[in-house]
Amino acid sequence: MLQGYVIKEMVYENNRIRLYRGCMEKKQIPVLIEVLKEEASNPLEISKLIYEYEIARVLKIEGVMEPIKLENIGNYFAMIMEDVGAVTLREYIKNRPLEVPIFLDIAIQLAEILGRLHKNGIIHRDLNVDNIFVNPDTGITKITGFNNAVLFSVKSMDSSVLDALSNTIVHGTAGENAWLEETIDYRCDYFSLGKVFLEILSGHCSAGPTGFNEYPDYSFYKINPEIPVAIRDIIMKLLSQNPDDGYQSAYGIIKDLDECRRQWNLTGKIEPFIPGRMDISLRFELPHRLYGREKEAKILKSAFKRACNGQGELIIISGYAGVGKTALLN
Ligand SMILES: Nc1ncnc2c1ncn2[C@@H]1O[C@H](COP(=O)(O)OP(=O)(O)OP(=O)(O)O)[C@@H](O)[C@H]1O
Ligand SMILES: [Mg+2]
Repeated sequence: MLQGYVIKEMVYENNRIRLYRGCMEKKQIPVLIEVLKEEASNPLEISKLIYEYEIARVLKIEGVMEPIKLENIGNYFAMIMEDVGAVTLREYIKNRPLEVPIFLDIAIQLAEILGRLHKNGIIHRDLNVDNIFVNPDTGITKITGFNNAVLFSVKSMDSSVLDALSNTIVHGTAGENAWLEETIDYRCDYFSLGKVFLEILSGHCSAGPTGFNEYPDYSFYKINPEIPVAIRDIIMKLLSQNPDDGYQSAYGIIKDLDECRRQWNLTGKIEPFIPGRMDISLRFELPHRLYGREKEAKILKSAFKRACNGQGELIIISGYAGVGKTALLN
């Protein structure tokens, strides 16, 4: 199928991609190959793949899987990533019930990665057990799957990163998601994190792709009763339905998980505590919402959709300086 690569096994698939383990034929380098499905090879999906590649390549954030290159072979578009012997979190928890220290180790790494992403103005928006990779030998955890990611606070970003990304389409396609549709709130990643934690501790993963707006059905997740209450409380806070009740910073999550780890290492148990004690928003944030632009946004979105189907369109947005043209477009 993909010339130049030997495919060994499929790791997982969803409605747009298939992820394979394989290697480069010539150099025998083990790689992960994310192939766009033929039925999903439309301009929008191709641009999302390019976008995903660019984000991961440009950011060079510790904990983000590094892509090697993009390939377009015949009808196939594929992103090639280095395979460092990691398995997806879904595979990882299938083979072993996770104990508290291993959970905390993975959980803290994930919270740290989210912290780094948010500091760089990136919201992942699709964190799940299929795009988190764990190396079973070292415990090193990395994430991928940036096709739904968005830039949120351009002001705080390094200008070189911005320049590099400005050639790439910055888009939000989460039409299915009511919670965030307009707000594009970085806190949605904390919600996804809560869901992942729940899955790690219960050993149950929702089948197939998960939407971050889907509120988990707790009866489905049977968390081992030996899991300390403090950890459950952290998860419940992550899963707050109103984001203002949840964590406001990755820092706050890391601090709580750190406290759990400290107590566990010391005494083998964790006393319950109120989560979020060190949770301070690291920046002053105005609401990201746009007010009173529903009609205009709708016009832009439908034009964008039509253009995605291949027919070009031109839209001119006019208005006084500062009236909100750029905000609307973003
Ligand atoms: N409808 C709105 N709801 C909330 N905030 C808004 C709205 N419109 C604009 N803003 C805020 O007002 C500020 C100015 O908006 P923006 O930069 O988009 O204006 P502009 O028309 O592109 O200006 P310029 O002509 O200088 O490029 C931004 O901080 C933006 O977030
Ligand atoms: Mg502007």
